[in-house]
Amino acid sequence: MLHSFNSSRREFLKFGAAGAFVLAIPKPVRSANSSPLILTAAPTEANLVLEPGISTHVWAYSQQVPGPLLRYKQGDTLKVELVNQLDEPTTIHWHGLRVPIGMDGAPVLSQIAVPPGERFLYEFELLDSGTFWYHPHFNSSKQVGKGLRGVLIVDETDPPDVDRDIVWVLDDWRLNQEAQIALPFQNGRDASHNGRLGNVVTVNGNIEEEFSVTAGERIRLRLVNVANARTFSLVFEELQPWIIALDGHPIVPQQLNNEPVALGAGQRADLIVDIPAQQDKVISVLDVAYRERFTYELMRLIADDSRAASRRSYPPRKLIPNPVAKPNLQNAVRQRIVFEGGAMGGMPSATLDGESMGIRELVAHQKFWAVNGIVFRDTESTPPLLNLKLGESYILELENKTVFEHPMHLHGHTFEVIKINDEFLDHPPTRDTTLIAPNETQEIAFVADNPGKWMFHCHVLEHQNSGMMAVFDVS
Ligand code: C2O
Ligand code: CU
Repeated sequence: MLHSFNSSRREFLKFGAAGAFVLAIPKPVRSANSSPLILTAAPTEANLVLEPGISTHVWAYSQQVPGPLLRYKQGDTLKVELVNQLDEPTTIHWHGLRVPIGMDGAPVLSQIAVPPGERFLYEFELLDSGTFWYHPHFNSSKQVGKGLRGVLIVDETDPPDVDRDIVWVLDDWRLNQEAQIALPFQNGRDASHNGRLGNVVTVNGNIEEEFSVTAGERIRLRLVNVANARTFSLVFEELQPWIIALDGHPIVPQQLNNEPVALGAGQRADLIVDIPAQQDKVISVLDVAYRERFTYELMRLIADDSRAASRRSYPPRKLIPNPVAKPNLQNAVRQRIVFEGGAMGGMPSATLDGESMGIRELVAHQKFWAVNGIVFRDTESTPPLLNLKLGESYILELENKTVFEHPMHLHGHTFEVIKINDEFLDHPPTRDTTLIAPNETQEIAFVADNPGKWMFHCHVLEHQNSGMMAVFDVS
């Protein structure tokens, strides 16, 4: 049965539990100065479920799930050549990075998708430091869902003082009993409800549930949600981690006291986690995103190292903000954006290809969502929703009139989340993806300072593909 988590991720496969494995941390790859780093998108095998002799047929970058961890310094130039060895076109989108439009990987708006057998060179300067990720932007539900996704870290010139810097790539797969990817992608039920929720959650590419830590150490833990649809909401039992960055951008450090860290699809959070000095301590990390019934243990942190690390008790300092333009809130142009549709949403009609259609007709087209009454078809046939003036400040009032949550993602820019429902935020975070709860309203503000036609869409990929997308033309 789908998303029927028991208490443990391992219980998915009935046949015997594998022994203890040390969680593999992907090795960082840094490209030599001028020759591009090659990322080959191709079918391969991955041992997601850690059963000897059972591998899952996936699509991956350079044979790795998750893809190679790319690591640069702020101000570096990224130079990556995509080699397409799939049997369909693909692109790479650099999620959260403010890149020139031609490097954004959005089909048609940025580039023609790379045909099978061909290559494409991505090259741009890394303006912002932080935790980012990359994935295809063509046939996304399938290509991302089959395993094409990886993390990109841009190091600060002045990183925080920690013992270890660790990445957890949080992922969600829908597998059948043979541990193969369940088909089809993009079915009407997923698209009109919560998206493609899976039944196997992996951290860094497998279901290992134990993570070794050293008593007393301070860890920078980078959480990256690369799932098609799943929201993660993590509670670190007995610990009080600090959030220091969201979507790669520094925030005023905020200490968590049993409140969960929520990550909608596409979102990231950087935490500072202090492991207690006590030996043999076991700490549970729970995912509470889908409430009690579906709460499960994502990971157990096991302090099994006898070398006690230097204990840091002082709060982490705020990292230096990235060079993002500050929106002028007094003179900003306001624009209301309403999301409608989905199951139980009561959307009576919407416009597809310039034609007003009732819900039955939309369903026949496999479209379920609308943005300001318009169902997105594709970049060629659906005109931009907004024309934004280059250099102008905007406040978008995002109104979720559906009974589902939506992680809304803007390309080419980052924005400040300034208001949620009626409450102004004291310290508006800078983000590229904001998770909007059912029936919630949020205000986001940004300077439209990157020329091009940019996508704005729900990062539940099945929602994106069934109408929940728009284009902003910045010129
Ligand atoms: Cu993570 Cu439009 O993308
Ligand atoms: Cu959505």
